[in-house]
Amino acid sequence: MEKADNFLAGIHDADYEAEYLQTRLDVSGLINIMGRETESLNGKWNFAPDLYDTCRRSHWFKDYRFDANGNELPVDYDWEAWERLTVPAPWNLEKPELYYFEGHGVYTRTFRYIPKTKGERLLLRFEGAAYRTTVFLNGKIIGTHDGASTPFNADISDAVLPDNRIVVTADARRSPFRLPMDNTDWFNYGGIYRDVYLVRLPQIFIKDWFVRLAPDGTFSTILADITANAPVNGKALLEIQGLGIKQEITVQNGKGEAKISARPELWSPENPRLYDVSITLDPGGAVDSVRDRVQDSIGFREIKTKGQEILLNGKKIFLRGICVHEDHFALGKTTNDEIIRQTIRDLKEMNGIYLRLAHYPHDARFARIADEEGVLLWEEVPVYWAVVFDNPRTYADAENQLCELIMRDRNRASVIIWSIGNENADTDPRLAFMSKLAQKAKAIDDSRLVSAACLVNQEKLQISDRLADFLDVIGINEYYGWYDPDFEKLPKLFANSSPGKPVLICEFGGDARLGQRGSVDDLWTEDKQKRLYEQQVETLKKCPYVAGTTPWILYDFRCPRRFNRYQEGFNRKGLIDADRKTRKPAFFVMQKFYAEMKIDYSSAFDIPKNIINNTTHDRTF
Ligand code: GCU
Repeated sequence: MEKADNFLAGIHDADYEAEYLQTRLDVSGLINIMGRETESLNGKWNFAPDLYDTCRRSHWFKDYRFDANGNELPVDYDWEAWERLTVPAPWNLEKPELYYFEGHGVYTRTFRYIPKTKGERLLLRFEGAAYRTTVFLNGKIIGTHDGASTPFNADISDAVLPDNRIVVTADARRSPFRLPMDNTDWFNYGGIYRDVYLVRLPQIFIKDWFVRLAPDGTFSTILADITANAPVNGKALLEIQGLGIKQEITVQNGKGEAKISARPELWSPENPRLYDVSITLDPGGAVDSVRDRVQDSIGFREIKTKGQEILLNGKKIFLRGICVHEDHFALGKTTNDEIIRQTIRDLKEMNGIYLRLAHYPHDARFARIADEEGVLLWEEVPVYWAVVFDNPRTYADAENQLCELIMRDRNRASVIIWSIGNENADTDPRLAFMSKLAQKAKAIDDSRLVSAACLVNQEKLQISDRLADFLDVIGINEYYGWYDPDFEKLPKLFANSSPGKPVLICEFGGDARLGQRGSVDDLWTEDKQKRLYEQQVETLKKCPYVAGTTPWILYDFRCPRRFNRYQEGFNRKGLIDADRKTRKPAFFVMQKFYAEMKIDYSSAFDIPKNIINNTTHDRTF
């Protein structure tokens, strides 16, 4: 019997959290788990709110119930007697008392583990938990992750037993130094709200891989990068059945790369062609490890800009889109395949081909399903509003979340834009912070565009933000006709600007309570919202450098800043009510606009595929 931990000690230790921050579960340890077998830990976990973080202050996770003399101690926790909450789910919708709860929550469950192969490694993986999550296994600290919307994992091979208890503390408090910071226009869901599972791995395995079309305008070279979890010298076999590719790749010091000539059928919204790709690692004779094999379905496409145009596979495209939050009336920030497929059906009913997944990384399922459905995606890290840009820890948090997102999704053809933030004032600290983030994104992914949702320069009434020099595409949020009632400023803004690169209007709109009627000037009515959309699209389509738009937003969503009689705790800018069924009249304004834009730009897509793939790609309209 180990000497009982003095569980009173935590009471007097102001710096009690330090020991939990020594092991960061961050992108350095993140593994690409696509195509791997997983064993779910989803289900009912025991739970208790822990407002004073007592679990970590008093080391509940060590589960010392007796002192050195065998006397029972009056501990303050009781794992099996606690209530049971669903994982994955935000705790806010699990019971009324937790709706606005933003503190620490403690989750726990047991699980059995029997190794299947000699020397296998065991990975514990979380797809998302808000925000600061500390994981304990059998009384040991496994580590801490910051960020609510990106995955994290830990190798628990040295802590796992046949019978295990996992304890997880999730701290959902908002903080000015965290990302997102403490003031956002969306609901702060807390807890383990995405999948949790185990992954069995060989001693030597493929930690990450990146396979894509070389963005060189020839559509004829596939690039592959492979990283093993250890500096082995061996080889890997890359196979792409549909292209008859079986390429051996030399692995030196744990890394391998290849350039392969090929002419894949190009992935596009009209033809979301995916190829089955597999990679097998032979770690070399020195290591006694089974050969690791990973697989994925990958689309090959090129996204680039040329002057003020965005080119998909060499052809000009107008991004017909809309914004979505991860906010469901019944499931909160938890999602599933059916919700995602319904969102895509609603987008396609609007004649859309593109979604801005605001304002944080959405569930990994979204990009996988978008690959299948031929939907283009803007994915974003929550560098939102007034971030403390001169705080190095805040930057480290932003860069880590960006790298976790890119590592998770960079094999997804649907993702065409990484967004490094939203509506941040153009200050020197912000420029330093976000330009560094933009350069980081370009450095780890050569196959996508980098953007951000910038603000209009109101003094000059111009699109002019110093960050634009570091972006491939300038995102602009503008609310003329709503927050700024003077709609005439929008055409003036466009006439007054010459951005020199493509602009996406990544937010416009106005609130309407479903069923609220009145004149086109009456706020909160469907009539006002419809008129505003008619004015917006009439102006947008005349601007030569607007290469796409994502109005704010597809569905009404929960927002604890919105409490007038029409909002009642929701942001009502949706074109569909929070019921995710009932369309408002403005929905059909976008549907008609996008039908027109489809005709203007998609004619090239109507040409039979075999002609598209064989003709030159410098076609202009
Ligand atoms: C902002 C912001 C959104 C917000 C929207 C609104 O531009 O980016 O997160 O919900 O405007 O005010 O409705």
